Amino acid sequence: MKPIEIKKDIYWVGHVDWSSRDFHGYSLSPRGTTYNAYLVKDEKITLFDSVKAEAVNTLKCRIAQVCDLSDIDYIVIDHVEQDHAGAMPAIIEAAKPEKIFTSPMGLRTIKAVFGDVDWPIEVVKTGDSVSIGTRTIQFMEMRMVHWPDSMASYIPEDKLLIPNDAFGQNIASSERFVDEFNRAEVFRSMQEYYANIVLPYSPQVLKVLEQVAELGLDIDMIAPDHGLIFRGKEDCQYALDTYKAFAEQKAVKPKAVVVYDTMWHSTEKMAKAITEGLEREGISVRCMWLKANHHSAVMTEIFDAAAVIVGSPTHNNGIMPNVAAMLTYMKGLRPQNKIGAAFGSFGWSGESVKAITEWLEAMHLDIVAEPVKCQHVPGHDVLGQCAALGHAVGQAIKAKITA
Ligand code: FEO
Repeated sequence: MKPIEIKKDIYWVGHVDWSSRDFHGYSLSPRGTTYNAYLVKDEKITLFDSVKAEAVNTLKCRIAQVCDLSDIDYIVIDHVEQDHAGAMPAIIEAAKPEKIFTSPMGLRTIKAVFGDVDWPIEVVKTGDSVSIGTRTIQFMEMRMVHWPDSMASYIPEDKLLIPNDAFGQNIASSERFVDEFNRAEVFRSMQEYYANIVLPYSPQVLKVLEQVAELGLDIDMIAPDHGLIFRGKEDCQYALDTYKAFAEQKAVKPKAVVVYDTMWHSTEKMAKAITEGLEREGISVRCMWLKANHHSAVMTEIFDAAAVIVGSPTHNNGIMPNVAAMLTYMKGLRPQNKIGAAFGSFGWSGESVKAITEWLEAMHLDIVAEPVKCQHVPGHDVLGQCAALGHAVGQAIKAKITA
């Protein structure tokens, strides 16, 4: 449990959660995750963030190899969500810091989460800074990236940005830097994290990126609170550019996601015929049955797809529970700039395609083809209509991408 020196006298003192698979209770973390905390040894020894409550001993152990816990003078709470602040009460109790810095919303959230604590809190806003000796910490509020209290800290003397959740990836590893790891996996993890956690706050991400550009921050290290650290100007620019592209949601691929649930395989047969139609148009397809694919894995695929085609049998005059859950999850994440379509089988009433279409319209998807519905088992005619739906969506995707 060594601390890792990431810059002279700046240490990673976080926790690697190798077994995390259920991130925050709603999203898969198939590679595990980390809760990163950073300790800066200067005239005022400063700790940035902590870890989950249950990992407090790991944090204490790593800190103890740099300094005594009671030597910590300042603590910065960039975000109060429990994966970063869960260990704070124990750390504050042991360290008895002189000052704790947090955003205005951070103070409100601390009171709501930890009660009426008597911590020595100093509220800081965007533009405020504090000297810790040879270094300065500049604070930048990042409201809604990921909570209203979220804040980034920047140390100009080290060109170091500590942006909390932003630029995070759920990767548990012995490596600490992106340049030591498989870059394709880093990109995939950034995508998974953004698609399932940051996506609804894309307008706020763009504002933060604009702010970083306006302030002319000279950055050669981005140390997020989850996953690997971006080291060197090239990798930092990569992180900034990747987030800009994610937040703009313009760079969709010639790709479609067919997502469905099924009772007696009729809707499944329809899904496969639609997939075939899309493939014949040269479209990359992910055909995802909701009993085989977690909603967060589906959302990651939807994130860079141009179209989402949703299928459900009619169940009790509505849609299947898994499809309702998927649509609820997707709507909350507010994906933009997508084409949509609906399909499904039914026994006697057949409301599912109408219900799905209403969901897609509520999400402002562009409905480019009539839904296909089928009573009981699809024959050649219906499967032909499904393939035609795939063709129509495929052509709309190509038109959209070349527009
Ligand atoms: Fe990693 Fe919003 O907490």
